[in-house]
Amino acid sequence: MKGRTSLTVVLAAGEGTRMRSSLPKVLHPVAGQPLLVHVLEAAPHGEGARLAVVIGPDHQAVADAVKRIRPDAETFVQRERLGTAHAVLSARAAIARGTDDLLVAFGDTPLISANTFERMRAPLKEGAALTVLGFRAADPTGYGRLLMHGKHLTVIREHADASEDERKVTLCNAGVMAFDGRSALKILDRIGNANAKGEYYLVDAVAIAREQGLEAVVIETSEDEVRGINTKAQLAEAEAVMQARLRKAAMDAGVTLIAPETVYLSADTQFGRDVTVEPFVVIGPGVSIADGAVIHSFSHLVQSAIGKKASIGPFARLRPGTSVGEGAKIGNFVEAKAATLEAGVKVNHLSYIGDAEIGANTNIGAGTITCNYDGFAKHKTIIGKGAFVGTNSSLVAPVKIGAGAYIGSGSVITRDVPDDAMAVERSQQSIREGGAARYREIKTRGRKPKA
Ligand code: UD1
Ligand code: MG
Repeated sequence: MKGRTSLTVVLAAGEGTRMRSSLPKVLHPVAGQPLLVHVLEAAPHGEGARLAVVIGPDHQAVADAVKRIRPDAETFVQRERLGTAHAVLSARAAIARGTDDLLVAFGDTPLISANTFERMRAPLKEGAALTVLGFRAADPTGYGRLLMHGKHLTVIREHADASEDERKVTLCNAGVMAFDGRSALKILDRIGNANAKGEYYLVDAVAIAREQGLEAVVIETSEDEVRGINTKAQLAEAEAVMQARLRKAAMDAGVTLIAPETVYLSADTQFGRDVTVEPFVVIGPGVSIADGAVIHSFSHLVQSAIGKKASIGPFARLRPGTSVGEGAKIGNFVEAKAATLEAGVKVNHLSYIGDAEIGANTNIGAGTITCNYDGFAKHKTIIGKGAFVGTNSSLVAPVKIGAGAYIGSGSVITRDVPDDAMAVERSQQSIREGGAARYREIKTRGRKPKA
């Protein structure tokens, strides 16, 4: 919202015990990125937009994740779990500094969009004190119900406190709220804990605002967008929704997904024009794929940059730090890690290329292995441009192979090879004329000839 400052307070103090995991709930990934990070990315960005995250005690890992993705964000610790309003007020110091709009979001609803936050801010500009995000729940059990008087929201009733009739209401509170910064603290400070759970309920802000003669409004969205994650099954449901969104966005941007439902993308996957991704490909975090590249079936890519018109797979595994140049080819059963393959390089079959630099147009024969690890440290293999490495060679790092050099098949290369040199490291071949026939004769002596 142009010209208006905002503070988004994200509540992420949940323990997530129902995840049955040692990882804090909000750090579980959807589309390769923690739940919380999705929310932080959807929250207002840029000039005049501040961010505060409320975390539980002993959740340093959550604080670290926040710092990594939004270094400008403040974190606050809620020491006792006394309810959502209490959690918001844990960030009182940030709120007291003043803001036009105060947004409150939950760290475990990863599907929330930036557009929804903006839609919620609009009524504040028109004079509302408070906007609540609502949705029509297929099963409203457990949610706070939005009780309306005509177009006006009068109260939010938590499920535990609701009457029989109120429980029939399907319009529910998604949890996201937007306050006019000028009245926010006056409302929040008046929230008490006289309810079924004895918690400080953020939802009570609505009734208090109404008592103060202020207006509360509802903005509706789909249930899919506000799904909260409490269990691994819900995590998987959110993953499915997110993957559907990412696939659609990729196809809308011109990517060909032959069988989209079999391709797994990450929230940060970047595509150029005319990219094709064949069925059954998994793309982890940090991958960019440039114009015209093809990713063949059953490939697995993480933190890698694929150049224009490159061809990857089928059955390729690209691990972090792999960069594949324009028109390069990585074929079946090839694994690469921390490797730069320049334009036109070919590694077509059954290779491991790790901690390596390979110059333009070099051909790496089938079965070539960079022996990068000596049991103690990793070492580099550097190969110049236009070189040819014969099949089944072992390149024992650290080692350099010059531009235009030629390595005979089956060689174990332990010393540097100069430019344009030929290196062959294998024992002399011996030929014994008639040897095979004699061998057969010895082996079959005394046996009946086969009929
Ligand atoms: C809340 C809403 C309910 C809404 C539902 C939507 C309240 C009182 N109720 O209920 O109206 O329909 O979400 O999913 O707001 N948290 C803290 N500290 C606390 C308590 C909660 O940080 O002391 C965080 C949780 O980690 C979570 C969020 O606030 O991210 C919501 O808390 P939760 O206990 O899940 O509230 P619900 O009962 O689901
Ligand atoms: Mg909840």
